[in-house]
Amino acid sequence: MSALVTVEVDGTIAVISIDNPPVNALSQPVRQALVDAIGALERDADIEAAVLVCRGRTFVAGADIREFDKPPVEPFTPDLMLRIGACSKPIVAALHGTVLGGGFEAALACHVRVARFNTVVGFPEVTLGLIPGAGGTQLLPRLVGFEKALDLITSGRRVRVDSGEGRIFVDEVVESLGSEELLEQAIKTARAVVGDTGFRRLSDERVQLAADEETIFDEWRVRMAKKKRGVIAVSKCIQSIENAVKLPFAEAIVEERRLYQECRKSSQSRAMRHAFFAERKCLKVDDIDPDVKPGPVTKVGIVGAGWMGVGIATCLADAGLSVTLLDLSDEMVATGLNRIRHNFEQSVARGRISTDEMEARYGLIHSATDYAKLVDVDVVIEAAVEDLDIKCEIFRTLDRVCKPQTILATNTSYLDIDQIASVTGRADQVVGLHFFSPAHIMKLLEIVRAHKTSDETLVSMIALAKRLGKIPVTVRVCYGFAGNRIYARYGAEAQNLLLEGATPNQVDAAMRDWGMAMGPLQVVDLTGLDIGYKARKHQPNLPDDPTYFALSTAFVEQGRLGQKSDAGFYRYSNGVGYDDEKAVELIRATASELGVPQTRFDNEEICRRLIAAIVDEGRAVQDEGIVQRSSDIDVIWLNGYGFPRYRGGPMWYADDAGI
Ligand code: COA
Repeated sequence: MSALVTVEVDGTIAVISIDNPPVNALSQPVRQALVDAIGALERDADIEAAVLVCRGRTFVAGADIREFDKPPVEPFTPDLMLRIGACSKPIVAALHGTVLGGGFEAALACHVRVARFNTVVGFPEVTLGLIPGAGGTQLLPRLVGFEKALDLITSGRRVRVDSGEGRIFVDEVVESLGSEELLEQAIKTARAVVGDTGFRRLSDERVQLAADEETIFDEWRVRMAKKKRGVIAVSKCIQSIENAVKLPFAEAIVEERRLYQECRKSSQSRAMRHAFFAERKCLKVDDIDPDVKPGPVTKVGIVGAGWMGVGIATCLADAGLSVTLLDLSDEMVATGLNRIRHNFEQSVARGRISTDEMEARYGLIHSATDYAKLVDVDVVIEAAVEDLDIKCEIFRTLDRVCKPQTILATNTSYLDIDQIASVTGRADQVVGLHFFSPAHIMKLLEIVRAHKTSDETLVSMIALAKRLGKIPVTVRVCYGFAGNRIYARYGAEAQNLLLEGATPNQVDAAMRDWGMAMGPLQVVDLTGLDIGYKARKHQPNLPDDPTYFALSTAFVEQGRLGQKSDAGFYRYSNGVGYDDEKAVELIRATASELGVPQTRFDNEEICRRLIAAIVDEGRAVQDEGIVQRSSDIDVIWLNGYGFPRYRGGPMWYADDAGI
């Protein structure tokens, strides 16, 4: 037996252990060893039952995603699951960690499921452009019904088995963190089911729709068409789950495999798999000393109780960190605290946390107007107004009052962090932490490595980002860093299209249909045209081109600032945007003043021009070493700018489409 899978015998119970770090993925050698182990189990007359358990940090967390680009090699995962399910002796799955995808399918194929209390189950396949392809779409509805199966499989979300909704996924929960206790309980359970010829084999069960469920699949199709717009795998998941009613198990399994293979080969799944690995690669910074370890962070100060400061404080407290929120006056801090409380209340309203948890998190936030209160914090995140002089003044003060080890971070979106660092006596401990708004929700965090930022400061901030549940991308200093710099180019190109004859709605609709969460002109109306207008006044190396953001300038000068003034590229009434003839007139008048020839665009040309602008600037950013690798730009666009995940990010898309 390979070391990846070992079998030990406890009386009449065989304990089959998988040991394939880091996440016990079901790679081909593991599958082969499991097939062999089950064959031996069937043959050994002294063995009456088995326990399937994993060593290390988790039960099987899925198929081996690295194998998906290669031709499949036998034994195939679905055959392994059928082999487990059909075993004549009961197999008890002993679950811990993250029981995902193929791991959850293995658990469902087993005949009993015993789990450690904090075990998480789920089918993340849809986030990889796939459907569960080894029985998941057939076995889960048999265990928990159609509504729950549709919910879990189409969302890809993960559920703790000891949560209110999670208990139905397992037969027993072990209230102990120890791996021995879990195994002991699983062996005990295996002994109890021995001789019980009626042990539950989900594949043998028939499923029927309840009387009120006749229309359930069509309802989910409609719901998902909006929620997971454009993701082909979602409709295939629904189709395969529906097959659980329409087809006998054996046929539905073959069909599930066919649908899975279709997805696996699709450009959407390849793109989403790229995104998965890109989001892990971005955690690695190539040129730092691997022996450098992150410093401890338990207390964080925030300077500035505005929207950004509030969002950052919320996510720090969500992660259990102590926060001191500082602003100029008690009133400003109080307003910030109210907003933080509101954020927590929303989490309670959405069922994410209990009121007790809310109070505990709120209790972690302390207020301050005196910098002396920041003396012993481990990190300060400055989130004050975007003004270099003000920020430099704040950093001088912080440098004076904070303990020598404190890391000083700025949340600036554009400004030169080297200049900010230069006013302190600890430039090696100065770094950029560019959160995206709302900071407690958006996953992306650009960590800006200034000229003198030390390796230790950088790894400490990457570790902090992980603790906050963020996806950190390390970038170098330039105006707007990687994300906003590329976005500015995209925004400028959107305005060029308007000048050349397109309308705001045409540009936005084309990009939304292409998959972007929002159109570029909708976004600028939402954030406010005045923000970029003011920022450009301080932008170094502004292009010497009269058309560059000429429309933004014309709109701001007419008081059309976007949603905040009820007029921008659209007009607004009660927050709802409408096409606006006046906006189009202003666009045409500006184009005429600048002498821009008019033309007609189709959607394809609009998308081509805009994506090419992103990719072109992305390549410049990479060539200048602002990012380490092109996949980092993909991570930034996927997590900060609403780029469709099924297109993998702009750089992946460009390579794939040969742009
Ligand atoms: N196949 C291959 N490699 C996998 C993998 C899988 N299913 N799941 C994780 N890995 C790799 C990661 O790429 C990473 O490799 P690296 O260290 O070389 O970067 C390593 O395992 C650890 O994963 P990471 O995500 O960094 O660890 P974590 O502790 O934060 O999270 C999981 C662990 C299991 C929750 C997370 O990796 C995950 O969600 N994996 C995907 C599960 C999945 O989608 N399964 C269904 C596949 S169809």
